[in-house]
Amino acid sequence: MSEGRVRVPAGPPLDDLDAIERLDPHAAREVLRRFPDQCREGLGLHPSPPVRLALPRLVVVAGMGGSAASGDLLATCLADRLSVPVLTHRGYGLPALVGPGALVIAASYSGETVEAVSAFEAAVKAGAATAAVTRGGRLAALAARHGAPVVTLPPGLMPRMALGSLFFPLLGILESAGLPTVPEAEVAEALETVAALADELAPARPVEQNEAKRLALAVGDRVPVVYGGELTGSVAYRWKTDVEENAKRFAVAGALPEMNHNEIEAWRAPEADRLQAIFLRDRGEHPDVARRFAVVRALVEPVAGGLAEVWSRGEGRLARLLSLIYLGQWTSYYLALLRGVDPWAVPLLEEVKRRLRP
Ligand code: PA5
Repeated sequence: MSEGRVRVPAGPPLDDLDAIERLDPHAAREVLRRFPDQCREGLGLHPSPPVRLALPRLVVVAGMGGSAASGDLLATCLADRLSVPVLTHRGYGLPALVGPGALVIAASYSGETVEAVSAFEAAVKAGAATAAVTRGGRLAALAARHGAPVVTLPPGLMPRMALGSLFFPLLGILESAGLPTVPEAEVAEALETVAALADELAPARPVEQNEAKRLALAVGDRVPVVYGGELTGSVAYRWKTDVEENAKRFAVAGALPEMNHNEIEAWRAPEADRLQAIFLRDRGEHPDVARRFAVVRALVEPVAGGLAEVWSRGEGRLARLLSLIYLGQWTSYYLALLRGVDPWAVPLLEEVKRRLRP
């Protein structure tokens, strides 16, 4: 899946399973390892009461952080099929275009995220149809009060590690609303693809056979700068947030062709040699985007600290997107271990929430 200049200083701690157990006291590795099962179980989660809706003119997934990522994945994997827009809304309230005829799905793993609760309230006020995907909390209570369909998620996960639970029920909701979603065969292919990757990327697989470990070692103490193409730009953003939350490190994300019109100039900065470029490549990318990747590589490689290309797997969009997201999850996990930080805990994020609690 990957190629490029990758330094591989093999050996501990990434192949030392005892050290990994010590560095990962909440066993995030088990949650990541179970991701294919989580996706399968997510397919079986349905809203109660069921969604009964005439075709919406607009779908908004409202949430933050790891929960909002489900909206990005939905919008990207359905962009070639849907004739209505699917937007991810991150923030308080909702844009003015939401009104009767729109479907707003508030997604919040904890159910306590004030922005998602605010968006749900705004949707009710605007006369939009509503649904919620959540483990419980204020959002579940609010949705129940309004008789809105609620998908109840399994407990015990970190939101960013619950993408399978958060995303797959969205497909069912859209389907119930009369919208085309991902065909069964493509869903099955996506599940097979991540199941194969679960074996290949887990801690038991040594560095030389484990792409995520190799990538983490290639990044080392450099800042990862992750670029996707038109389809995978949102995946690059997901890599950035996973590195930030799991490894507690800065990361940069961008997409081609847009970065050709701005960020490319930043590679003239003196700190370029402290950055690790990672290109997220996809067999479905536009041929002109492929040419742009080649041009950017030729310009960036001589000045970057390192450059690696990774390729999506599978045929269907969902498999291709999920394979890259899953690789990013594991890479950020190993980056956390290399830094000696607990990939699970997010103390500053929680402190911000605590200080803002109403
Ligand atoms: O992954 C995380 O922990 C965060 O990005 C959360 O998803 C974010 O803070 C929002 O919380 P929730 O997903 O519970 O609404």
